[in-house]
Amino acid sequence: MAAQIIDGKAMAARIRARIKEEVAALKQAGGVVPGLAVVLVGDDAASQIYVRSKERACKAAGLHSEVYRLPESTGQAQLLQLIQRLNDAPQIHGILVQSPPPAHIDEDAVIRTISPDKDVDGFHVVNVGRLCAGQPALVSCTPRGIMALIRSTGRDITGKVAVVVGRSNIVGKPVAQLLLQANATVIVCHSRTANLAEMTRQADILVAAVGKKGLISADMVKPGAVVIDVGMNRTQDGLFGDVDYEGVSQVAGFITPVPGGVGPMTIAMLLDNTLQAAKAHG
Ligand code: GUN
Repeated sequence: MAAQIIDGKAMAARIRARIKEEVAALKQAGGVVPGLAVVLVGDDAASQIYVRSKERACKAAGLHSEVYRLPESTGQAQLLQLIQRLNDAPQIHGILVQSPPPAHIDEDAVIRTISPDKDVDGFHVVNVGRLCAGQPALVSCTPRGIMALIRSTGRDITGKVAVVVGRSNIVGKPVAQLLLQANATVIVCHSRTANLAEMTRQADILVAAVGKKGLISADMVKPGAVVIDVGMNRTQDGLFGDVDYEGVSQVAGFITPVPGGVGPMTIAMLLDNTLQAAKAHG
């Protein structure tokens, strides 16, 4: 039987509508207007698309939005100065520096400079540490979106085997932590994993976040599994995930499409993180 499709686009739209209502209610009560600052250095084509979507989503939900498009030649000191200014800006509750920055920028230093209370990407070591320690934290947007998509299936996560393929700081590591907190037994696979298929076949929940088109084929998936495809592989023929959708959807119980699965959820969670930051520190 073909897998049920997890509709991330529809779920993200519901979340965004709920955020819009909450933002309007805050405004009406004379409260804070949540504000997000997005910083883009250079002219990476994919990053420009993402930043434009974030800006539009903010405006549509009634958030205050500031976008800083800086030239490729922007120096490290200049960028850190802007972040310091945004840290001190009362109308800004969330700061996001689009990744990847140009090679001459030290991304770790950039993230370290963002105030942990405004770190709506959840990339600062303070937030990463809080997440690992099970304390309240700003948690990265894509992993939060992935958890919401898994929960939307109605499947119980407790005691299930969750296999995460990919160990990036943006997705793999934090989603593994969230699955662990949800009482899954978590296996994290990566480029040095000896027998990837042997691992993925154990997964009741399989999260593919590598960036390799079609890496996960039908024979690597346990029948009935929940498969979350985080891949965003742009080719001349369009956008593709890490999962061979045609084949795997014949085996899995649930599957996210690309596009229309994880991607829209990332932006919805970014708005939600900004709202949470504004409510906590506005
Ligand atoms: N580039 C791709 N995904 C992300 C993200 O979630 N946050 C930031 N800052 N940059 C990204």
